[in-house]
Amino acid sequence: MRFLITAGPTREMLDPVRFLSNRSTGKMGYALAYAAVVAGHEVRLISGPVSLAAPAAVKVSDVVSAADVLNSVQDNLQWCDVLIMAAAVADWRPASVSAVKLKKSNMSGTLELERTPDILKSVAKYKGGRFFVGFAAETGDPLPEASRKLKEKGLDMIVANDVSQSDAGFAVDTNRVTVLFANGDYDNLPLMSKVEVAKMIVEKIENKMEK
Ligand code: C5P
Repeated sequence: MRFLITAGPTREMLDPVRFLSNRSTGKMGYALAYAAVVAGHEVRLISGPVSLAAPAAVKVSDVVSAADVLNSVQDNLQWCDVLIMAAAVADWRPASVSAVKLKKSNMSGTLELERTPDILKSVAKYKGGRFFVGFAAETGDPLPEASRKLKEKGLDMIVANDVSQSDAGFAVDTNRVTVLFANGDYDNLPLMSKVEVAKMIVEKIENKMEK
């Protein structure tokens, strides 16, 4: 199958040197790209700014902002059978971007923000028979929010994790996730390496696509 995977954070620029971003390091998305290649799939990876190397067989598109992720997903959507949105796309961006570095003497203490496009919602109408997977990183019990996002974004599967735990979520090599499906089924996976979590997610997608 053809897997289109997004990974890493986005940066929403305020001026040429300042940006809004988040703690994502891309480890989960890159682990998914690796697991999909090892399972014999074709993989395209849309990557925010991270310090990771992708397997040689993976075609990587480097992106910076949420708008870039949207453009790249739109460009590659027709190609794919499976879309996995593992990127931690920023939800807000500065309402205006300065072409020159802002001087602190000219800046007020308030930053005006606007929403970034929701990529999954934007491409939902082109889904067809494709399998769409989202991630839900929450602090505290992730299940209620994950189940709401699964429905709201029209997904087939969502991978939920509590990023307030020190051994799961951002910037660590392990993760403890619950996988929820559109039919209401869910599966609590134990603490595992992100590569093992990725392998299980790829297997679950393969099983669902075969049905
Ligand atoms: O709503 P929230 O950002 O928590 O949803 C997380 C899921 O939605 C992730 O799969 C993420 O990649 C995706 N997302 C998106 N467009 C955004 C923000 C998040 O597709 N603007």
